[in-house]
Amino acid sequence: MEENNGKLIQWYPGHMAKTKKEIASIISMIDVVIEVIDSRIPYSSRIPGLNKLTRDKKNIIVFNKYDLCDKDETNKWISKYTNEGNICVTCDAKNSNDYKKIINEVKNLMININKKRASKNLLPKKAKCIVIGVPNVGKSTIINKIVGKNIVGIGNKPGVTKNLSTIKINEFMDLVDTPGILWPKFEDQHLALNLASMTIIKEEILNIDSIAIHILRMLSKYYPNILKQEFGIDCYNDDEVEELFTIISKKKNIPVNGEVDYEKVSYNIINTIKQEKVKGITFDRIF
Ligand code: G4P
Repeated sequence: MEENNGKLIQWYPGHMAKTKKEIASIISMIDVVIEVIDSRIPYSSRIPGLNKLTRDKKNIIVFNKYDLCDKDETNKWISKYTNEGNICVTCDAKNSNDYKKIINEVKNLMININKKRASKNLLPKKAKCIVIGVPNVGKSTIINKIVGKNIVGIGNKPGVTKNLSTIKINEFMDLVDTPGILWPKFEDQHLALNLASMTIIKEEILNIDSIAIHILRMLSKYYPNILKQEFGIDCYNDDEVEELFTIISKKKNIPVNGEVDYEKVSYNIINTIKQEKVKGITFDRIF
């Protein structure tokens, strides 16, 4: 098995520059940017340079998939981002009505904005909101919940239409119908592996074994109990990788045809996270 350690990922979809440009062209019409991130990687799943793009717009950071994270660790990130002036909302978009918290925050923001407008004899305005985030963090799920029905074509395709069509949510909020998909920056291999571990970037972009090993390393470092329970090993160690994969292969009943199928074991490890069999993990740390 070989890792592609040290090789920086060169993947940068062509859509990215286009989407950024298009968001830049509509941002003056937007009041509130709803940035969705994955609570398990509150640093890695943020969009670098977003402030530059969204300028002075109000920013609500939605810590989605909060049901899957290590709340103690993720809450530290919530404090950090809140101290930096962001509004933070925790959300389990899939299984709860947490999306209502987002609507409430928009309402609170607009109450304040409209108070200021009233003092200048200006009529109250509705918030034009845009939902953005890297792939697979739950943007569509949130949008569909906020809108109250499944919207085809919103949130999930790259590129932003210049004609702003908006969906009325209530008397103080409109959702701009833009698929605000942006891509993360691969600052380093560690960050890219975090993103791949949470299926934000596709497995094929990185070496499958590298992703699986990254997951084992992170569990070994931060969540040894989960590592033991889920994979039957006490800790991960590069020197014993073949033995460890053999133990995991047995624990997971992966058919052995003469020898251990390392690729299958890797996929199994990745799927364990993908299929949400493991909860209570957060891979980003504040140092
Ligand atoms: P995107 O638009 O940002 O790309 O993400 P999308 O809403 O498509 O969500 C990606 C996956 O994450 C979906 O699972 C969705 O159900 C799941 N998801 C979204 N929000 C949450 C959350 O808060 N908690 C949990 N546990 N999961 C969430 P999928 O397997 O791709 O599809 P399906 O399970 O909905 O069929």
